[in-house]
Amino acid sequence: MDALIGAAKHIEEYYLTGALKGNTGLAGAINVQGEDVFRMDQIAQEITVHYLKTSGRVIHAISEESEEIVPMNAEGRYFVYFDPLDGSSNVPHGLPVGFMFGVARRNLEGAEDNHLRAGRDYLAAGMFVIPTGTFTLALKDAGTWRFHIDDTDEFVKPRRMILPEDPKGWELSFNSANRHTYAKGIQSWIEQNERKYSFRYIGALAADFHRTLANGGMFMYPAIVNHPDPKKNRPQGKLRLMYEASVVSFICQEAGGTAVDESGTPILDIQPKHHHQRTALYVGSKPLVESTTKALAVALA
Ligand code: AHG
Ligand code: MN
Ligand code: MN
Repeated sequence: MDALIGAAKHIEEYYLTGALKGNTGLAGAINVQGEDVFRMDQIAQEITVHYLKTSGRVIHAISEESEEIVPMNAEGRYFVYFDPLDGSSNVPHGLPVGFMFGVARRNLEGAEDNHLRAGRDYLAAGMFVIPTGTFTLALKDAGTWRFHIDDTDEFVKPRRMILPEDPKGWELSFNSANRHTYAKGIQSWIEQNERKYSFRYIGALAADFHRTLANGGMFMYPAIVNHPDPKKNRPQGKLRLMYEASVVSFICQEAGGTAVDESGTPILDIQPKHHHQRTALYVGSKPLVESTTKALAVALA
């Protein structure tokens, strides 16, 4: 945890002065996801790898910004899965981005076990919303907690996060420009439900979900299956399972919510086959998440 918190503070420092140091642009490279890499993505990656390696506690890490698994310390006891900078399109504007992570324990008995853990087996998952000085941490069977940074640069005053049951303040969050590319069931779900709630979307999962967690409602990034240009369909969704979807799903579950994929399978039950695997994501207050699954099933029937 010290290494992860150290990395987040260091990334935040760079982020705050990024515009003045010329660090807010593109790096001129394409990452493993086929997406443009920002200079800040690289800086955040280098910082995080440094902190995790020097902690000596991590055997392998999996990062959005590294095609291969990142080997760390043979004696390390943990696997760490991270997105060093979530929401890169906000970087040129200095708007909120995230640093998201999940932690699983290595099997210390017997042969080396698989590092591809389902979210259900994470010990902890967390997200820093940078540069807001907030940190949300979920611990297995011990709840979800939100911290704020103080004058001495410490994350303090944890507050337990429980999704509010009263739908009055619930919010929906999804990229509305994509709505006509979603499965028909989701399109009609949106038609029938969107007027009941406020809508918020900043384009960084960590920041958008930060609100969902506090106010209730649902963040979704459905599969893209009806794009006018079929080459642009994303039947597997856009978000990455191990260091985006499972992270927010773990945090959400510990706060009394739930998360599923396009077929209604709990995100935390998905056994990854590949470390950069993608998934559709519906995460937030149970009644909303469950009703999207029903809408998808009805439309298929
Ligand atoms: P990243 O910057 O790590 O690649 O993640 C971006 C993700 C996620 O944070 C966000 O919710 C989503 O992409 C936004 O995608 P759209 O621009 O398609 O809405
Ligand atoms: Mn991301
Ligand atoms: Mn990222």
